[in-house]
This record gives sequence, structure tokens and C-alpha cells, in this order.
Amino acid sequence: MGLTLSVSELKKSYGGTVVLDGCSYRFEGGGVYAIMGPNGSGKSTFLRLCALIEKPDSGKADFIEEGVVIEHGLALMRRITLLLPSVGVFNTTVYENIAYGLKLRKVNKAEIEHRVLNAAEMVGLKDKLRRRAVTLSSGETQRMGLARALVISPSVLFLDEPTAAVDAKNSKAIEEIIQNIRHTLKATIILSTHDAGLAERAADTILTLRDGRATAL
Ligand SMILES: Nc1ncnc2c1ncn2[C@@H]1O[C@H](COP(=O)(O)OP(=O)(O)OP(=O)(O)O)[C@@H](O)[C@H]1O
Ligand SMILES: [Mg+2]
Repeated sequence: MGLTLSVSELKKSYGGTVVLDGCSYRFEGGGVYAIMGPNGSGKSTFLRLCALIEKPDSGKADFIEEGVVIEHGLALMRRITLLLPSVGVFNTTVYENIAYGLKLRKVNKAEIEHRVLNAAEMVGLKDKLRRRAVTLSSGETQRMGLARALVISPSVLFLDEPTAAVDAKNSKAIEEIIQNIRHTLKATIILSTHDAGLAERAADTILTLRDGRATAL
């Protein structure tokens, strides 16, 4: 089951520019949330702070399970994943790219194979596992990124513009994968997007980020 994420009074500035200015919101476990807002409004920054990749100047992001706040650390990091708009590709096979997070976590070989096949099936790349990942199209690469994220069965999945730079067909496929992840993993999903249609269809709640704060629509 997805973790609840309670963000309170997050502040972040770069140089003299204030990006987040006391941003607070509670994301309920298992919910799907879409964050919208103009270019430069701080969506990616917000996701990086929530995914614990970068520290806020002040404020906090608490992950909560059964009413208890989980201490920040490796065990928590392993339950969270952030998928960036341009997926980093390792110069090896699609299989190895998807398996990466499981190898880091020292999962055994048989289990890795099982999970990679499942994830590849979910994103429609089962017949491309032996291909070199650099030969995939942008849409396929983005789906490989999703498979890499979901193979570790994250409790919280952050997706930064998951459908940027993909065509309508891949965009639709990605939308279906998100729904699928929601139903199978029951993960909490927080995505940023400029696509109002995707936000409407995929998310229970749409937030806008403006003047450094998040508000539900
Ligand atoms: N590491 C950084 N150093 C300096 N400025 C940064 C850094 N990261 C983000 N910014 C600035 O913070 C502001 C918010 O950027 P951010 O990428 O979070 O916006 P965004 O809402 O994701 O925009 P987009 O829709 O274009 O992806 C921008 O002005 C950006 O230049
Ligand atoms: Mg961004």
C-alpha cells in the first residue's frame, strides 16, 4: 500500500529566486495526484524535494505508514522512486536497464527475472528485452523508464512529466500503465504534467503550483 506524504512549509530558493515559498500538502496513501503549473513554477523542484533527492531550505516531507512517520534513510529511499522526463539509458540491454534497481537491492537472479518480465509485460516491452536500450524510440525509452521504476514495487512513485516528448499513442499507453500501477501496486503516485487531459483522467486530485505554493483545484 502506498505511503501517505505530508509536506509542510517547504521553502526552496536558488540564488535569490524563491521557487517554493511555504508549500504544504497532504498526499493520501494510494492516491494519484497531478501537479500542474506554468514552466518554472517549481514542479520539478517540488518533486525532487519530495523524493528526498534534494534538501529544502526549510520545511519537511514526512512519509507516513499506519499513522507513523518513517525515518528518512536508505530503507525509506528504497520505497520511493522518481522518474525524470528524460530517462537515463545505460548502454546495455533493455533487460539490464530494467533490472538495475533490483541488482542494487541484491535481489536474487530468479526473482529479478520474474519481476523484469512482469514489468516489461506491463509496459509492452517484453519482446524488446534483448535489444540495446539506446536503440529504443523516445516513447519506448519512456516506457522502459516506467518499467525500471515499477520493477522495484515502489510505495511512492513520482513521475516528472511522464508524457513529455512522446506521441499520442505512447502517451495513451503511459496513461494506461499509470492506471495499472495504481491498481496492482496500490502505490501513491504524484506526477507533474502540462497535459490537462492526462491530469483529469489519471489523477483523483489536481494541484496547481503557483507563487511557490500548491493548491488543490
Ligand atoms: N539547481 C538549480 N539551480 C538554479 N535554479 C534552479 C535549479 N533548479 C531549478 N531552478 C529554477 O527554479 C525554478 C523552478 O524550476 P522547476 O524546474 O522546478 O520548474 P517546473 O515547474 O518544473 O518547470 P517546467 O514546467 O519547465 O518543467 C526555475 O526558475 C529554475 O530555473
Ligand atoms: Mg519541470
